[in-house]
Amino acid sequence: MATNDQLKALVKSHADGDDPQFYAVAMQVAAKAARAGQSKFAQELRDLVNDLRKRSDASARVASIVPIVQPKGELRSLLNVSYPDALLGDLVLPTPLVSRIQEVLLEQRQRDTLAKYGLRPARRLLLTGPPGTGKTSTARVIAGELKLPLFAIRLDTILTKFMGETAAKLRLVFDALAETRGVYLFDEVDALGGERSAQNDVGEIRRVLNSFLQFLEEDTSESIIIAATNHPQLLDSALFRRFDTTMDFVLPDDEGVEAVIRNRLAGFQSGNLSWAKIVPAARGLSHAEITTATENAAKRTVLDGRTRVRTDELVAALKELPRMHRRDGKAD
Ligand SMILES: Nc1ncnc2c1ncn2[C@@H]1O[C@H](COP(=O)(O)OP(=O)(O)OP(=O)(O)O)[C@@H](O)[C@H]1O
Ligand SMILES: [Mg+2]
Repeated sequence: MATNDQLKALVKSHADGDDPQFYAVAMQVAAKAARAGQSKFAQELRDLVNDLRKRSDASARVASIVPIVQPKGELRSLLNVSYPDALLGDLVLPTPLVSRIQEVLLEQRQRDTLAKYGLRPARRLLLTGPPGTGKTSTARVIAGELKLPLFAIRLDTILTKFMGETAAKLRLVFDALAETRGVYLFDEVDALGGERSAQNDVGEIRRVLNSFLQFLEEDTSESIIIAATNHPQLLDSALFRRFDTTMDFVLPDDEGVEAVIRNRLAGFQSGNLSWAKIVPAARGLSHAEITTATENAAKRTVLDGRTRVRTDELVAALKELPRMHRRDGKAD
């Protein structure tokens, strides 16, 4: 039989959640029982402890793995899932835009508190602005900050020639969105109701857009829906009304230019750079273009065996870009 001390130790280790101690004491009880000739009881107790040990090992392993959601079946061709670790501080954005994103994050983090007062967090966001200014990156940041999966909706596979099929696929996406909380990104959303659907006849485009609007309206899920576009003027005004907030992205100002370059050059010596020469060469370029130019200059520096980036190199890389990138009117 177990001694009083052993019983106390069992209860204490259970209360402390100290599993190894609990098993060790139970094994001592089994050993004592075996010595006292109670071999059947001793064996049963040992088996019980071994069984429990195995089970708790398995559940500890499962709990330590981040739950990874993968779309199944047809959804797999409609959604690309990722788990971004991007943070708001990685982006260079105008202060009002940063504040707006912070508000959205706070409302999401405090959504239970809001719910107690019958309030809902902002969760349908429309991001507009020129290419390469941070729209897709912001969707990644919102997912990263909230530790949610990012589901990018593949409009290329959603949009088919057949209106009925397109609506059925949109329905699948909205069902998934209600089932799995995440950030759902409809990138280049103008394709759902803009110029690019022009291969279909006008009535068809209207119907695709209408079904999208209807799904948006009916959706009461906890997911965050982000729609992004370079062409807000192509969007139907009915679409704007379905969003809780619109965020307008813009090309960086002079301070922004410097911040993008400094961020990209972290790890290099850049104290010697002449910003008065660099900033004018970058005016009119997007964050993405400035990043590319900075990387080009950095590569030349590295391959030249240096750690100090030169002003003239950076200016040349920036000046190179408009010709390289703007020929087809697109930045990427
Ligand atoms: N605001 C920003 N701050 C810092 N880096 C940025 C910013 N915007 C863009 N970049 C850089 O440019 C890359 C592309 O940006 P992103 O894909 O977010 O642009 P976008 O606005 O979605 O463009 P598009 O309209 O072409 O889809 C990013 O990976 C990042 O390196
Ligand atoms: Mg984008």
